[in-house]
Amino acid sequence: MGNQERLLHNLQERIKELTALHKAVRVVQDSAKSSSEVLQDIVGLLPPAWQYPEVTAARIVFGGREFVTSNFRPTPWVQSAPIKTNAGQNGTIEVVYLEEKPPEVEGPFLAEERDLINSLADSVSSYLDRKQAETALRQTHERLQALSQRLMDVQEQERRHLSRDLHDEIGQALTAVKMNLQTLQRGIDAPHIAPSLSDSINIIDHIMQHVRDLSLDLRPSLLDDLGLVSAVRWYVTRQAERAGWEADILAEDSLSHLPADMAVTCYRVVQEAVTNAMRHARAHHVSVALHKDDRELSIAVRDDGVGFDVMHAQQRAAQGQSLGLLGMEERIRLLEGRLSIRSSPGTGTEVTASIPLPLRTCGKE
Ligand SMILES: Nc1ncnc2c1ncn2[C@@H]1O[C@H](COP(=O)(O)OP(=O)(O)O)[C@@H](O)[C@H]1O
Ligand SMILES: [Mg+2]
Repeated sequence: MGNQERLLHNLQERIKELTALHKAVRVVQDSAKSSSEVLQDIVGLLPPAWQYPEVTAARIVFGGREFVTSNFRPTPWVQSAPIKTNAGQNGTIEVVYLEEKPPEVEGPFLAEERDLINSLADSVSSYLDRKQAETALRQTHERLQALSQRLMDVQEQERRHLSRDLHDEIGQALTAVKMNLQTLQRGIDAPHIAPSLSDSINIIDHIMQHVRDLSLDLRPSLLDDLGLVSAVRWYVTRQAERAGWEADILAEDSLSHLPADMAVTCYRVVQEAVTNAMRHARAHHVSVALHKDDRELSIAVRDDGVGFDVMHAQQRAAQGQSLGLLGMEERIRLLEGRLSIRSSPGTGTEVTASIPLPLRTCGKE
C-alpha cells in the first residue's frame, strides 16, 4: 500500500468505528426496546466496524444468555472485553475473525479496535445498570401502589363495618334502653327518682345523636344505598349547617350510577376538601360541583376563605405531618386521575380533580 492509500484506509477504518459507536449510542437510548433486543442490535453493529467485516462474527454473553451474529463460531482469533454491572453480573463482548489475518497490535486486531470494544462494553454495562435501576424502581413503585390500594380498601371496609356496628348494634341497644326508661318513667310514681330518670333519658338521647353522627361520618349509608350525589348533598348541607356557611352543590343525578370505587373516591375527596374548608378556611361560602361527560368525572370544591401556601403544606404532608392532602392525591392517583389545589394565603382555595371513566360506563345515561 502506498502512503496515501494507507492514510485513506486508516480513515475509512476510523469512520467505520465511529459509525458503530454512534449507532450503539442510539440503540442504548431506545427505551422502547427490551434489553435482549438492545444486546442483539449491538452484536449486529460489531462486524462492520472491524477491518475484515466479511470474516468477522460477534457474540455477547450476559446473564446466562447469548446473543450472536448468524455466522458466529469460536475461533482462535478473538478480541473480547468484559461487561460488568453494579449488581455484580458479568458478561463479555467478543469479536472473532473466522480466518487467520496478518498480525497487528493485538493478534490480528488494531489498537483502535481494542478502544472501540472497550467503549462498547462500557456503554453496554451502563445501559444494563440503568435498565436494572429502572426495573427496580418500577417494581418498588408497583408494590407501593398495590399496598396503598390495599390500605385504602381495608380502611373503607373497616369504616363501613364500624359504621354499621355503631348504627345497628349500639344504636339499637340505646333505643331499647331509652324505651325501658320511658316505660319506667310512665309506670312508677316515685318523685324522688323522676329527675334521675329524665336525666338518664336526656343523656341517652345525647349519646344516640353522637353515635349516629359518628356512624355517618365513618361511612354514610346513603353512599351505598342512594349513591354519590345524595351522599354528597347530604354531607355538604350538614357541614354547612354546622359551620354556618352557605353551600351550593351542583351535581347531575346521572352521577349516581358510578362504579363503586369511583363513588367512594369522589365522596372521600369531597369530604376531605369540605372538612378542610370547615377546619382551616374560615369561609363564608363553599361550593361543590360534580360533573361527568363521556370521558371523565370532575370534582371541584371551592371556598372563599383565608387560603394557604400549597407547596408548603404539601412539603409538611410529605414529612408525615398531615394526611388529608396526601390522601386525596393518592386516591385520585390510584384511579389514574389528576388532582390540583390552587390557593395562596389571602385568597380562597380551589381543589379540582378529574378521573378518567372506565370504558364500560362511557355513553351510558
Ligand atoms: N381549604 C383550606 N383553607 C385553608 N387552609 C387549608 C385548606 N385546606 C388545607 N389547608 C391547610 O393545609 C394543611 C394540610 O391539610 P391536610 O393535609 O388536610 O391536614 P389537616 O386537615 O389534618 O391539617 C392544613 O393544616 C391547613 O393549614
Ligand atoms: Mg384535612
